[in-house]
Amino acid sequence: MESMQREAPWYKKWFDENYLLLYQHRNYEDAREQVRLIMDTLKLQKGSIILDLCCGEGRYTILFREFGHRVMGLDLSEIFIIRGKEKYPRLNLVVADMGAIPVLPGRFDLVLSLFTSFGYFEEDEENEKMIDEVHRSLKPGGFFWLDFLNTHYIENNLLPENSSQISPSLRVVEKRKIKDRRIIKDIFFQDSQREVTGRYKESVRLFTRNELEIMMKKTGFQVAGCFGNYRGDAWNGDSERTILVGRKEL
Ligand SMILES: C[S@@+](CC[C@H](N)C(=O)[O-])C[C@H]1O[C@@H](n2cnc3c(N)ncnc32)[C@H](O)[C@@H]1O
Repeated sequence: MESMQREAPWYKKWFDENYLLLYQHRNYEDAREQVRLIMDTLKLQKGSIILDLCCGEGRYTILFREFGHRVMGLDLSEIFIIRGKEKYPRLNLVVADMGAIPVLPGRFDLVLSLFTSFGYFEEDEENEKMIDEVHRSLKPGGFFWLDFLNTHYIENNLLPENSSQISPSLRVVEKRKIKDRRIIKDIFFQDSQREVTGRYKESVRLFTRNELEIMMKKTGFQVAGCFGNYRGDAWNGDSERTILVGRKEL
């Protein structure tokens, strides 16, 4: 009988050097804007203990450190964590899965999930378990800041296909569709002859604001706020983002 090997999930493959090539011109101003919004909203005391879940190379993590907080960054991609340690040698960055946060309960004042780092798991129960993990790792009264896409905005503004010429020898084609309540992106890296040199998938569960709030409340969070963008405007159906602030009971 042939052995049935299960394919690794998309999020274990996509976050490598090619992802960094595609996003090398990412907008750092957005990151600074959101960090300002977080600071103004939560008014944390200096020295607060913060977890940046799915931190990537730590572009947000470093900003919280600059504000005088004690930050830990966690990411599943070894490549990103190695790059982050090279860029910011003093940052505390660890390789781990957001579904099993490797800390004792009640450790953090704030847990961050930034730039659509949620909804990656196949099953809703697995995504919900991540919120449970966040709740467990927070101190009583601690905050969970969830910066997620806005499902209505994605549905109304879906760009089915686009391409970017990254360099003379590298072109990236991205194809998008909505299927089974997920936004699915197929990503193709091509050389100067348009031969495909790399192929990836991204698949994010399209949770609505209501669904996110239900999951948070079920876990034991109070929903303390919701913004529609990094400037801090109130959320509506057309907002670009769904930014929810959960608070663990005291
Ligand atoms: C869209 S990127 C955002 C990175 C970072 N928050 C930023 O804004 O620069 C998503 C990140 O989630 C990480 N990731 C994916 N699945 C993960 C998992 N199961 N556990 C922890 N990190 C994961 C990826 O490696 C990647 O760095």
